[in-house]
Amino acid sequence: MVRYSKLPFRELVRRYNCDIVYTPMILANVFSASNYARDSEFSTNLLDDPVVIQFAASNGVDLANAAELVSPYVSGIDINCGCPQKWAIQEKIGSHLMSDPETVRDMIRMTKARVNVPCSIKIRIHKDLRETEEFVKRALSVGVDFITVHGRTRRQKSTEPVNLEGMKLVKEVSTVPVIANGDVFSVADANQIVEATNVDGTMSARGILENPALFAGYDVTPWECVEDYVDLALSYGTNAFIFHHHLMFMLEKSMSNAERRTFNSLTTTPAVIDYLEEYYGLDIVRRRVERAEQKIKTFQL
Ligand SMILES: Cc1cc2nc3c(=O)[nH]c(=O)nc-3n(C[C@H](O)[C@H](O)[C@H](O)COP(=O)(O)O)c2cc1C
Repeated sequence: MVRYSKLPFRELVRRYNCDIVYTPMILANVFSASNYARDSEFSTNLLDDPVVIQFAASNGVDLANAAELVSPYVSGIDINCGCPQKWAIQEKIGSHLMSDPETVRDMIRMTKARVNVPCSIKIRIHKDLRETEEFVKRALSVGVDFITVHGRTRRQKSTEPVNLEGMKLVKEVSTVPVIANGDVFSVADANQIVEATNVDGTMSARGILENPALFAGYDVTPWECVEDYVDLALSYGTNAFIFHHHLMFMLEKSMSNAERRTFNSLTTTPAVIDYLEEYYGLDIVRRRVERAEQKIKTFQL
């Protein structure tokens, strides 16, 4: 997720049962051209595994160049074929690619020729599902390793329900694993989608932002997850805007309107920490001890 699925958040959601975690969408041409972009857009460590890096590109050369640079540090390369923003469509990236299956085929082919990690696509569906079937078949013909399908067309808003039939079709015609995306806000939602479509897994964006412990079965963000995030974000270093926004999403459901107004108006990282210490009893050291004790218990079992 652009801005949000950076290293601390990825480590957080892994602690709460996520199997595969993605980086935010990164522009492939900028990534391969600039050392500064590589440093600011992507950081990883040994715990960040498996991680899929997602690129936006308009051609196979840009994508393969970026993929080659990063492939020793990731478990997979994903091609964004879903971003609906106007600027992305003008740049012929993101959801523009849903109307250009030939280019996507070239991208997969060229990338797979240059790297030894899986290459996947994250797609949307078309209004006419026959186009989706054709699109998927072309990607399969050049060895795409797995497919994530967001069950909406590029023009549909995320307030509209996902098209289960479209996701089911992608699964039916695929010979590789398929992950369904859209409207997963709980484990129950994920199970319902799997049941209706027979997909191999589900992906969540808005749901996991609100509740990073979603895949561990929690309905709202448990407090310890908030403490874990604060600890990880401060340990790795996170920009104040992103730090604050993550916490706004996570705490949204457990705050009253008045609390939310106060919390959302804070402007610095120390102010956010002070607030959480004073009103919620934030205690990173206690939480670290708790986690260590849990680990020891698991080890003894
Ligand atoms: C804040 C935010 C950032 C996103 N960034 C990306 C991205 O970088 N790459 C991508 O493929 N989709 C991105 N998406 C779209 C989601 O991956 C997903 O397809 C969409 O939100 C529907 O899933 P959901 O119902 O679980 O939110 C983003 C969505 C949100 C809300």
